[in-house]
Order: sequence, then C-alpha cells, then structure tokens
Amino acid sequence: MPALQQAGHAVRQMSRRGAGPGGVRADLATGRDLAAAVRGVDLVVHAASDPRGDPWQVDVAGTRRLVQALDRARLQHLVYVSIVGVDRVPWGYYRAKFSAEQVLLASGLPVTIVRITQFHHFVDELLSTARRGPVLPVPMSWQAAPVDVGEAAGFLAEVAGRPPSADVVEFGGPEVLAAADLARAWAAAREPGARVVATPLPGRLSAAFRGGGVLPGPRAARGRRTYAEHLRGA
Ligand SMILES: NC(=O)c1ccc[n+]([C@@H]2O[C@H](COP(=O)([O-])OP(=O)(O)OC[C@H]3O[C@@H](n4cnc5c(N)ncnc54)[C@H](OP(=O)(O)O)[C@@H]3O)[C@@H](O)[C@H]2O)c1
Repeated sequence: MPALQQAGHAVRQMSRRGAGPGGVRADLATGRDLAAAVRGVDLVVHAASDPRGDPWQVDVAGTRRLVQALDRARLQHLVYVSIVGVDRVPWGYYRAKFSAEQVLLASGLPVTIVRITQFHHFVDELLSTARRGPVLPVPMSWQAAPVDVGEAAGFLAEVAGRPPSADVVEFGGPEVLAAADLARAWAAAREPGARVVATPLPGRLSAAFRGGGVLPGPRAARGRRTYAEHLRGA
C-alpha cells in the first residue's frame, strides 16, 4: 500500500473488513459489493487470498468474479500476487493459486503474474507454530529463499508501473537456506532454549520442497534484506 502511494497512485484497499487507509469492503467469495469496490479503477494489485479457508472459492472463483467486475475499457494493468513454485509443488493451496493465474492469463485483461517466495514473517509464524516445548522439528533438507515483505511490495509497485507482460515474473529473497538453518537462526533470536531437530519427511510434497520447488529461477529479481537482518530488526 505505501509502495503504491509512493509511486503516486491513489489507493483503494479492498478486503472483507475494508481495513486500513482507503479501505473499502467487498467479498470475492460471494461477489458482494465487488462492482462498487472496483468501479473506475485503472490498476489492480490482486493480493487477496484465503489459504486457511476455501482458496477455490476465494482465490479461483473470486478471481473470476473480479475479472467480470472490472471495467475492461478502463483497466490498464492487473498485477496478481502469486507464489514461486505454484506450478510444480503438489499442494492444494498452490494448485488453487496456479488456477487463479490461469484464469487471469486467459481473461484477455492486461495482466502480470508476480510469483514471490515466502515472506520473512511467514517463516517466523511457521517456526513458532512448529515448536513443541523445547524441541523445534523441521523437515530435513527443505530449502527456501525467504524475502522481505516491504521489498516484495516495492517490486509489485515497480511491476505495476511497467507495461503488462501477460506472463510470469518472479521475486525472491537474497539467499537460499535450508529449513534447519532458518530454524536455528530463528531459535537463536526468539527462543534460545529451543533445539532444532531436522526430520526426514516422506512424500511428493516433501520431495518438491527438498528439490528446490519453491526457489526462484535464474531470471528472478531478488531482494537484499536477509533473514538474519529481519531477525535482528536491521
Ligand atoms: N505469506 C507468504 O509468505 C506469501 C508469499 C508469497 C506470496 N504470497 C501471496 O501474497 C498474498 C498476500 O499473502 P498474505 O500472507 O499477506 O495473506 P493475508 O495476510 O492472509 O492477506 C490476505 C488478504 O486477503 C483478504 N481476503 C481474504 N478473503 C477475502 C475475500 N473473500 N474477499 C476479499 N478479500 C479477502 C484479507 O482481508 P479480509 O480478511 O479483511 O478479507 C487479507 O487482506 C496472497 O495472495 C499470497 O498467496 C504470500
């Protein structure tokens, strides 16, 4: 939001709660108030998602509702916030995000898909949830390239200012780290008593995370702020 405002846009922030400056209420799951919320807009950054609820209803059907609601004559660019690896990691939420991408790429609207890696604060949340008393279990050999959410927002604003690519671009963090290394860094900074235990996890999903399924490709744009800097608050 601040990144788009700094780029000179008058921003309307749409969600069910309509929270924040310029907030308007609308629901992608039902289409309620959607037409009014997007009336007159020429740029959309679509980041709405419901990973813990029903992403097929919100992310996929909701994106279809959004496509219907937008004024094609007026819209100059729709930037969709997606996740690196949605095309290759066999997980239900990622499949829904990939389907939402397909809805947009087939819509005839001027779109760019931006796939981003995991936000630093999201890694913190995952690790905090995984901790069981003094033990912090993590999947062995999973790899990630977490990114600063502010840098990701800046990249989205930059992409929004370019012509639509009708394609996918990627944005990732500066370094690739094993889940166990992320966990050790997190534990040292936040839960010094916690002991990291890397455990082998079987299955296709785990194999995808081990095999670099969520790592940005060689042409990806990269942020600069490391996970260690995030933990230090630097
Ligand atoms: N978390 C990560 O590490 C990560 C990494 C890469 C990409 N992404 C992508 O980045 C985007 C934002 O992720 P996030 O983790 O910041 O998610 P988040 O905090 O859960 O934000 C999701 C937003 O969607 C809105 N929303 C949910 N259901 C809605 C509905 N039915 N109608 C309208 N708005 C709705 C929510 O607001 P209300 O609750 O007020 O409706 C909220 O503002 C997502 O598209 C996600 O896939 C996330």
